[in-house]
Amino acid sequence: MVPQLTDAYERKFYYLRLSITDVCNFRCTYCLPGGYTPTARPKSFLSPDESRRVSRAFAELGTEKVRLTGGEPSLRRDFTEIIAAVRENPAIRTLAVTTNGYRMARDAASWRDAGLTAINVSIDSLDARQFHLITGQDKLRQVMDGIDAAFSAGFKKVKVNTVLMRDVNHQQLGAFLHWIKPRPIQLRFIELMETGQGGTLFHQCHLSGEVIRLQLERLGWRRQPRGRSDGPAQVFSHADYQGEVGLIMPYEKDFCASCNRLRVSAVGNLHLCLFGEQGIPLRDLLADDDQLAALKDRIVRSLLSKKQSHFLHQGNSGITQNLSFIGG
Ligand code: 5AD
Ligand code: SF4
Repeated sequence: MVPQLTDAYERKFYYLRLSITDVCNFRCTYCLPGGYTPTARPKSFLSPDESRRVSRAFAELGTEKVRLTGGEPSLRRDFTEIIAAVRENPAIRTLAVTTNGYRMARDAASWRDAGLTAINVSIDSLDARQFHLITGQDKLRQVMDGIDAAFSAGFKKVKVNTVLMRDVNHQQLGAFLHWIKPRPIQLRFIELMETGQGGTLFHQCHLSGEVIRLQLERLGWRRQPRGRSDGPAQVFSHADYQGEVGLIMPYEKDFCASCNRLRVSAVGNLHLCLFGEQGIPLRDLLADDDQLAALKDRIVRSLLSKKQSHFLHQGNSGITQNLSFIGG
């Protein structure tokens, strides 16, 4: 039997979020409002071999799902190689990507051929002008074409991430529901989280997902049970709709109790929580297949220091200036 990573609070970790780049070509207001600023010396991000080794170590510790994140992962020229490298391990049954959708119309089929099993794409507004204002890119059409391409390539369902923002999209539930009625899309409203750079926007636009939950319940949507490697979303469905709605509410009491994920940054640091720590370097143990045992040992030991909860309620976002380096 595979040993299962467990922390001091009896949480089990089935899910690894692996960032493969910090670079992004969008400038989402809540993430990189000024756009990505390259560092003086270009950073070297995990190679396909390093990605394979780190995901293998996690797989041998019970991880069954990996998500590739960024920045924008599909900006990597070797993105399909990374997909194939991670999927070399049969224990990784689900390999997902979170993308801004920029390359999806062109590449969704080759991602699927390489072994990708699931796609999350960010769409914060169905209005092209507003989409442009939020992301800095006039690409709503292209992203929508990307979703069609994903369905044509054989993905059965696509998840869409929508960051809930007061007076930006919180009044548009009707339009979103209309859109997912005939489509197998799980639309997930994510509560805006406070980051080091995002304080002003947060105070202007944060809104509890409760607002959406109440409307959904009034409209006859019903909450679904949650699987063990599922994210923290509360998922709602409705007999008249092919699509589903998810709510991700990181400020809700006990949100962290259901934490089942760990994160590795694009430079190979293990992050036990999205917020508030420097990360534990793993990269020195990713150079060779022979280091597997030492790598697993470091991961298991590190996990013992995972804290019970984030400190967002205290307005403390730790060192987290924005989420572009770790992909949310
Ligand atoms: N608050 C909530 N979600 C965020 N993301 C990035 N920054 C934030 C933030 N401040 C999430 C978005 C996006 C994904 C890549 O990261 O959901 O879709
Ligand atoms: Fe880029 Fe994603 Fe951040 Fe938007 S949320 S700027 S698409 S990394």
